[in-house]
Formats: sequence, C-alpha cells, structure tokens
Amino acid sequence: MKKLSWFLAFFFMAISFFFIELRLQPAQLPGHSARIEKKIDELLVRMTLEEKIGQMVQYSYRDTEDLKCLIAEGKVGSLLNVRGCEKANTLQKLAVEKSRLGIPLILGNDVIHGYRTVFPIPLGEASTWDPELIEKACRVAAREARSAGTHWTFGPVVDIARDPRWGRIAEGAGEDPFLGSTMAKARVLGFQGESLSNPSSLVACPKHYVGYGGAEGGRDYNTVEMSLNTLYEIYLPPFEAAIKAGASTLMSAFNELNGLPSSANFFTLTRILRQEWGFRGFVVSDWNAIGELIQHGFAATPSEAGIKALQAGVDMDMEGNVYHNQLSQLIREGKVSEKVIDESVRRILRIKFLLGLFEQPYSDPKLERQVTLSKENRSIALDVARKSIVLLKNENNLLPLSKELKALAIIGPLAESKIDPLGTWACAGRPEDVVTVLEGIVSKVPTTTKILYEKGCDVSGQDIEGFEEAINAASGAEVVIAVLGESAIMSGEASSRASLDLPSKQEDMLKALSQTKKPIILVLMNGRPLSISWAAENVSAILETWHLGVECGNAVADVLFGDYNPGGKLPVTFPRTVGQVPIYYNHKNTGRPPAQIKYTSKYLDIPSTPLYPFGYGLSYTNFDYSSLKISSEKIGTFGSLFISVDIRNSGSRLGEEVVELYIRDLVSSITRPVKELAGFKRLSLAPGETKTVIFTLGPEHLGFWNEHLEYVVEPGIFKVWVGPNSVEGLEGSFEVVE
Ligand code: NOJ
Repeated sequence: MKKLSWFLAFFFMAISFFFIELRLQPAQLPGHSARIEKKIDELLVRMTLEEKIGQMVQYSYRDTEDLKCLIAEGKVGSLLNVRGCEKANTLQKLAVEKSRLGIPLILGNDVIHGYRTVFPIPLGEASTWDPELIEKACRVAAREARSAGTHWTFGPVVDIARDPRWGRIAEGAGEDPFLGSTMAKARVLGFQGESLSNPSSLVACPKHYVGYGGAEGGRDYNTVEMSLNTLYEIYLPPFEAAIKAGASTLMSAFNELNGLPSSANFFTLTRILRQEWGFRGFVVSDWNAIGELIQHGFAATPSEAGIKALQAGVDMDMEGNVYHNQLSQLIREGKVSEKVIDESVRRILRIKFLLGLFEQPYSDPKLERQVTLSKENRSIALDVARKSIVLLKNENNLLPLSKELKALAIIGPLAESKIDPLGTWACAGRPEDVVTVLEGIVSKVPTTTKILYEKGCDVSGQDIEGFEEAINAASGAEVVIAVLGESAIMSGEASSRASLDLPSKQEDMLKALSQTKKPIILVLMNGRPLSISWAAENVSAILETWHLGVECGNAVADVLFGDYNPGGKLPVTFPRTVGQVPIYYNHKNTGRPPAQIKYTSKYLDIPSTPLYPFGYGLSYTNFDYSSLKISSEKIGTFGSLFISVDIRNSGSRLGEEVVELYIRDLVSSITRPVKELAGFKRLSLAPGETKTVIFTLGPEHLGFWNEHLEYVVEPGIFKVWVGPNSVEGLEGSFEVVE
C-alpha cells in the first residue's frame, strides 16, 4: 500500500511537471507567432516617428477635446481609467476609425481584486492559501472587465511586504516569496486565461517592479535599500513566477532601489527581466514615474529623464508626458536612436495583436450586461470571502454561535458600512452591491432574535458620545459582536500608518464593552495586520475578515453561525506592537537568538514572538498531524525527495486545513532563514477522516543565491517541519550530499 502511494506520488509529480513545463515556458507570450512579428514589421514601416511615439504614450481618461484630438491623430497608444463598454467603444472608435493607421488603443484599469464583483482584498485572498480558487476569482474579474472594454489590468500586485505600516500590503499576498509566487502565478493564469484574444481575458501586469514593498519605515514611495541576495531571494521570485506564467506586461515602480530609481534601472528592467527571464512583453512606468526621476535627483531635465527611462527598458510612459514631449526632439538631436523606439513600439504592438484588437477592437454591450455582477460571479465571491476569513481566537468554543440567541448586540462603525468592505482599489465596485455585516447577520438569524445595533464611535475621530448606547446594547444582549478596524481608505496607495493599533477610539470602546462582562466576538475589518494585543488577551473570539468585498456580510454571518467552518491562515505576521516591525517568520537566526539571558537579540519590554505567527489560523474542528515520513535520508544536490504526513480531523465538524511545509538549511555559505515555506496544501476533511499529504522537495526549494549571485544547492543537513503554521509542526531532517 505504502509502495503504491509513493509510486502514485512519483507518477503525479512527473505528470504535473510535464504540464507545468508546458504552461510555463519562459520567454513565451501566450499565442505569439512569427505571423504577428511580420504584421508588426509591415506596420512599423508605415508609421511616422510621431505615430510611433504615440504608441508609447498613455493618458488617464479625461473628457476633453484635446485628448480626443490626440487619439484621432494617432498620438496616444493607451488610456487608463476608462470604465464601461460604451465609453470604451466611443474612444476606441476615434483610434480605429479616425487615426491614419487605425491602430487600436489598449485600455487599462486597476482590476486588483475584482471589477464590479469585488472580491476580498488580495491580502485576504492570500489568506485562502488556495491558488486554484484565486485563479477562478481572477477569471471572473477578467470576464467582467474585458466585457466592459478593459483589455489590461494593472495587476497582480506581487510586491512582498514585511512591514504592515505600508498601506499597500493590502494589495499583495503578504510577506512570503513562496506563497507570493504561487499566488502571482495563479493570478496571471486567471487574468490571462488560455488566450489573450479570448473576450474574457485581460493582459496581466505584475507590479511594482521592484522592491517597492521594502520602503524604509513602511512609508509609501520611500527609499529602498537591500542586498542583491535579498532582492533575488525575497522580492524577485513573485515577479519571475508571474513572467513565467505568461504575464505579458510589467509595471516599473516609483521607488529607488539601492540608489537607482526602479523606472530607470537597466539592471532590473533589462538584465534581469529581459536577459535572464526572457520577457518579451512591454514595460509601462507607474504614474509619472519617469517625470519623477527629476525629484529623485537622477535626471536634471525631462529630456534626460526620458533618455534614462527608455534606455533602461521602459516602453510606455503612464500619464507622464515625458515621452510625448521629449522623444521626437531627442531623436532629431541623435540622443536616442529610432531603433530603440522601434523596439518599444514593437513590444506594444505585439500585445495589441495578441489581444486580437486589430480584428475586434470593440466590446460587446450585451456581454457586459450578461456577465457583470452575475449570480454566478457573486457566488464565487462568497466562496472566496468565506475562505479568506481567519479565526484568530475562540475561547471555550464560543463560536460558532447558536442561531437561537434571544438578543445579539452588534457594535461598531464598520458593521453597517457599505463602502469599507470594498477595500482599496475597488475598481468598478459600488457600495450598493455590498452586503454589510449587519445585513448578513440579520438575514441569518430568525426574526425572534433581537438585534441591538449601535455604531458606538467612528473609525477615525475622537467622539465617544456613542459609547453609552453601545454599552446599553451590549448589556441587553447575550453576546456582543464588535465590528472594528480600518476604513477602506486607510490602506492602499499613499496610506501608510505609523501606528498599527485600532484607529482612534475603537479600542477604548472595546474596553468599555468588556466591562459588561458579556462574551465579545471581535470581527476585524482591515487592510493590514493590526497590533491587537489587548483584544487578544481580553475578548473571547477574534475573526480576521480583512475587506471582504461585495459578499462580506454573508461570508461573516456564515462563519459566525457555523454554516461555514473557517480555514484561512495568515499570509503575514501580526506584531504585538508596531515597535517589533519589521517582523517576519523567515528571519535570520543572528549570532545571539533571543533567550532568557541579557545579551541576546530581543527587546526588553516585550516577548520576541509575534502576536500571531505567519501561517496561523484556527478552525471549529481539530486537526492532528502524525506519521511524518521523508522518502530519503540523503539526496544529491540535484535530487528530490518526498515528505508525507497524515492529517486527521479529530473534531466533530467538517473542516478545512492548510498543511504547511517548512525547511531550514542549517549551515551554508550565506546564512539562511530560520524557516522557509516550501509547500502547502489546503484540504477538506470530514469528522474522523484522515488524509495523507505528500510534498516534493527539490533543488528549486533547497537552493539559494550565493555570494556570486549563483543559484546553488549546498550539501548539508536540512530540517523539515510539517504543521498548521510557521511555529508548530512535526519535525524531521535529511542530508544533501555532493
Ligand atoms: C499608481 C499606482 O502606484 C499603480 O499601482 C496604479 O496602477 C497606477 N497609479 C494607475 O492607477
């Protein structure tokens, strides 16, 4: 029997490698052919210099004659922020029917977590640890957006974020490169589908390349300094995974990296992206990032900024006017070769051909009506929202609640909010589409249950006048559900926070509610990890729900009342206090790891551990881990092995568990993290059921970038853990030999 399961594991590994290889050919753009290159050649010889530069210019939509003229003159290749089929078709008509060569526009939008059917923010989606589901969610977003005239999403956001003060942590998959790469690939496959010319596909644009999440102090747009090893090991992998999954464009970031602004960095944009990874799509700058080379102190004039960005490898200028205003003069002066321009234009036209825009530049309003916010899309959004919820605490199994309660107090400024569940970058999402937490609960419980709702205080502001009513409501209820956290605009771009506490008076209100001695369930709605040490000690149960999207209230109610058993896990570490930041699980050991003696690496005033570790999350049932097996005690540096473990649902409810595999390379030529995620699997188990999970470990997990920036697997002992989070688990080891 055991032999059979190893055989099957080998078999499936071989098959899946075969398919993964087929899907992930580096340097391939899905659907690309020599025929397309020929068409580009034909077009390029007919284009004037002005028309070529036009393809490299992108503007944000504004309803002005000036913009319409530029489009009709062939001086704009792309627009962003055009929403809706009708508007998109009108503008497209100008390009296709009025401009001399009729080259269609490529229309882009920030489709970050859904188009009209808004899904949980990406940090929430990453909490599902379910890449197949996220791929499905991105297909929904792509179908809706493409039918509404969008061809191109400025996503996925694949920035690794180790600092929760940084507001854009909400937009990505958290702190880990392995989880981040898995999600990046899933999102690209979901957005782009089988073929870009499919009327349900969007071109993906992984961003913000690169290092953007490493901003000093977590302050958006701030300077980034990191070693090349850290860049290769932590920040680049999700980009590489996205490119290898076929992502056909990429966005260069605002930040400087080790002194070089990312939108003028030849090393990252050409050496790594094109020469190492074989990327054949085009690069768009972030908004005015080329113009900002001047503020960075990297270019003295717009024309110098244009030269530097172009020569580094930026093909399209987002809303910057630098390419529009400078390039033709630079060519006339001989400072830029027309060949460079031709290459950028070729890359842009390539994607327009792949999208099939020359054959079908318009979207179909009938399809738009059919797919937008459909019942089916909402039901996938509900599935994702439920799976994104993380149960952080559940003292004495307070949850799930009985549906027979006589009186329930629902308190907090976010309980009735229609806008905040949409989160940051909600694209075409509308507040009226949202089911609030209050609505979700009301529709879940029988009419005999008395619902006592009080807002109590605002998300921001100092007013505490509502505390009294909130306390009265709590006093009259059997259980208190406090819906607290951050409003949607507190995370995302330009939304860094210096404090990670519950904003304003919310924690004070929680303290006041606790005086009633009623059991309190804290439902957190937020875009980043929060420092909730007081709540973690003092309330009975905590659900991390992030910003869950349009199905927010239904998902939360399903979990509160046990119609769905939560199984999400944290994709990011929760600190006890902001002073611990940056705190992440895959840190180095140091020469003096924290211990109970003075001269070790720790703070005097708090424990060294996080409040909730990476990978953590509870369930209404229990899972037992046993029988850790490692297929070989020794493998060669090119070898692979299997790790298997049995997981049993020892509780009385159906539940889902994310099984996590971590490794540690104990001694190496460059120090390695104390743990690295190397595999995971979310599975569903009936009460009493046991399943065996088998992971494969090979060179792609065991290696690292050495001091010469070569990827190597070094001989030595590796530790292995398989468990429910990054601090618990069964432990084993094996050796890599020469
Ligand atoms: C600036 C943001 O940094 C980027 O993520 C976004 O895609 C563009 N603006 C366009 O909205």
